[in-house]
Amino acid sequence: MKHFDVVSIFPEMFKAITQFGITRRALEMGLYDLSTWNPRDFSDSPSRAVDGRPYGGGPGMVMSVEPLTRAIEAAVSRQEKLGVRKSKRIYLTPQGQRLDQNMVKHLSQQEGIIFLSGRYEGVDERVIESSIDCEISIGDYVLSGGELPAMVVIDTLVRRIPGAIHQGKSVESESFENGLLDYPQYTRPEIFGPYTIPEVLLSGNHKEINRWRKKQSLGKTWLEKPELIEKITLDVEESDLLEEFKNEIGVKYPHGV
Ligand code: ADE
Repeated sequence: MKHFDVVSIFPEMFKAITQFGITRRALEMGLYDLSTWNPRDFSDSPSRAVDGRPYGGGPGMVMSVEPLTRAIEAAVSRQEKLGVRKSKRIYLTPQGQRLDQNMVKHLSQQEGIIFLSGRYEGVDERVIESSIDCEISIGDYVLSGGELPAMVVIDTLVRRIPGAIHQGKSVESESFENGLLDYPQYTRPEIFGPYTIPEVLLSGNHKEINRWRKKQSLGKTWLEKPELIEKITLDVEESDLLEEFKNEIGVKYPHGV
């Protein structure tokens, strides 16, 4: 059982994961729980304000230290009561360390995580100093808030909880788990206009099918994300498969790719 808490002024947004798909089913199966904390409920002001103008001037508003730290504290207490010894407190921001599958694997060892989703121009730096363990970005672009990024991280973690995905082996065979992209998949019909499916997939020869799939994974990664190939060490068989792929490409695209 994993425990997730989110601090956000738009808690309703998280229905996108709690009410749909794999993340919904895993929640119903009790594989994880998710609680949201609205910093407005921790504001001292009658208007429930959670932001203020930046010291030093400039455009936009900054989220205030008190409501945010109180909301994070409430989340920490909830997780403590559930037996989490040390909750990891994450702030979603474009300034953070970039999320990748390695980071996902690492985070999936945590029993409890608290996500701070900011809005406006950011949060008072003292929130980060006093109450945050790490900052994560989901990519080099700017979103209107940290809610979608928090959901992205939670989704990557939930699908790794044993039992969350129907076919138990599915996660290991996914993109990136072995450092490679997915091989192409096909289902009925066998013929779609001029488009057919690779002969080998109809052969019933599982050794050949696996060999073909491995070759496609290697080839596609080499074509689309060559930096991933450089990160892994290919054994002799894999090097041969990649060479074979390159030769076949030469036939398919005689003028080069
Ligand atoms: N908040 C706004 N943009 C973001 C991003 N790219 N990653 C994480 N948090 C964000």
